[in-house]
Amino acid sequence: MTTRRVLVTGVRGKTGAPLAELLAARPDVEVLGGSSDPTTVSRAGVRPTAFSWDDPAGWPAATEGIDAGYVVRPDRADAPELIGALLDVVPAGAHVVLLSEQAADQVGPDGWAVRVERAVRDSGRSWTVLQPSWFMQVFTDPRYYVDQLTDDGELPFASGGASVAWIDARDIAAVAEHTLLDDGHAGAVLELTGPVSLSLPRTAQLLGLGLGRPVVHRELSIDDAVAGTEGFERELTELTFQRVEAGLFAGVTDTVERVTGRPARSLQAFLADTFRRVPVTHDRHAHVAGPFFHGTRSKLRVGDELVPGRGSNFQAGRVSNNVYFTGVLETAVWGAELATALAGTDEPGHVYVVEPLGTFEDDPNVTDKRFPGNPTESYRTRSPLRVVGEVPDWPGHDPEVLQGMLDGLAQLREQGRDVIED
Ligand SMILES: NC(=O)c1ccc[n+]([C@@H]2O[C@H](COP(=O)([O-])OP(=O)(O)OC[C@H]3O[C@@H](n4cnc5c(N)ncnc54)[C@H](OP(=O)(O)O)[C@@H]3O)[C@@H](O)[C@H]2O)c1
Repeated sequence: MTTRRVLVTGVRGKTGAPLAELLAARPDVEVLGGSSDPTTVSRAGVRPTAFSWDDPAGWPAATEGIDAGYVVRPDRADAPELIGALLDVVPAGAHVVLLSEQAADQVGPDGWAVRVERAVRDSGRSWTVLQPSWFMQVFTDPRYYVDQLTDDGELPFASGGASVAWIDARDIAAVAEHTLLDDGHAGAVLELTGPVSLSLPRTAQLLGLGLGRPVVHRELSIDDAVAGTEGFERELTELTFQRVEAGLFAGVTDTVERVTGRPARSLQAFLADTFRRVPVTHDRHAHVAGPFFHGTRSKLRVGDELVPGRGSNFQAGRVSNNVYFTGVLETAVWGAELATALAGTDEPGHVYVVEPLGTFEDDPNVTDKRFPGNPTESYRTRSPLRVVGEVPDWPGHDPEVLQGMLDGLAQLREQGRDVIED
């Protein structure tokens, strides 16, 4: 077995740390953990290696004999020159993976990010460029939003109404691992995003669920977003938020899945790994913000109230002690489709925007069952639900998918396992 030597710069950082962990788990890789303070690098299987952008004299030793190198772009004005100079000392046969950012061709000042990438492309080394969206780790990093989220319940962010396809930095690390070690990625520019694009209000709602406290998005002006920064950092941050507002971080790619063989992690999964889930109970539900949805076969009007004590849509003859609703449109769509299908009608059903008039809790029928937590955001209340609107033109499931769900329910019923805890 030939051992390959890989240098990971920024090994204490958001992508460098999980990348070093992945590489250290491979018996055929010798991992050099590059940091400006190598005494803080203590991961098993990672050799602490002095690497600082301020100390070019140390670069030959840090890169000696490497087969591949992961280069985290330093966000400073001289990055193009620094990276060009670093690659001059990297062994000629080494493969270099650069961490850049999404839509880098639109990043100034003076095309700074383009010049950084060009320094790598023109280095004569084999290369791959990673262009990720915003990292989910900005919600847990003390240098970004964690204090505002946990202390004030606020996500102050200049979005201009645009969405962001947040990516888990561990997925960037997983892509980096493949592009450092596997053939077939040389000369590729890989745009990396999370699995979905989320508006900032929806992001705040999910953060609230993850943190177990209410979180609201506060829209900032770009001037407010860059307050306290100056010089190059200010220009760069301003441009970043202009690009957010232009929707340049809203697109979704399947690159993580294509390269690693598994889908990109969702924000919910990231939060579930990061925070201990706070159950939603009648005593503790203020952190769960709407909009909420309810799917049914019934035709209702705005102002109508859905009350407990009615016949169940799902089991003939059973009275429902609770009214059920969800924070996820698709869950309500299932509700509408199943209710109409089980009633034997071929009407499409209705999906309403609802407001619970009393306390509510996690629906125990789906919470911590097939998946940990309450990923379908399903809740129930013993108080009325008021209809505040109807969702027009909701997207239904394909007939085969719906039939599959109905077959599954029929099978449960046959096996006597269609027990509903109500
Ligand atoms: N954050 C995002 O959402 C995002 C999105 C797209 C692209 N990017 C780009 O990705 C690159 C990395 O950005 P990042 O924000 O994710 O940085 P990061 O990787 O978390 O950290 C970068 C550097 O900061 C030092 N560092 C990390 N943790 C530290 C700690 N706890 N204490 C002291 N120093 C620490 C490390 O260098 P030393 O060990 O050498 O000191 C590390 O290399 C940048 O070019 C950025 O523009 C970021």
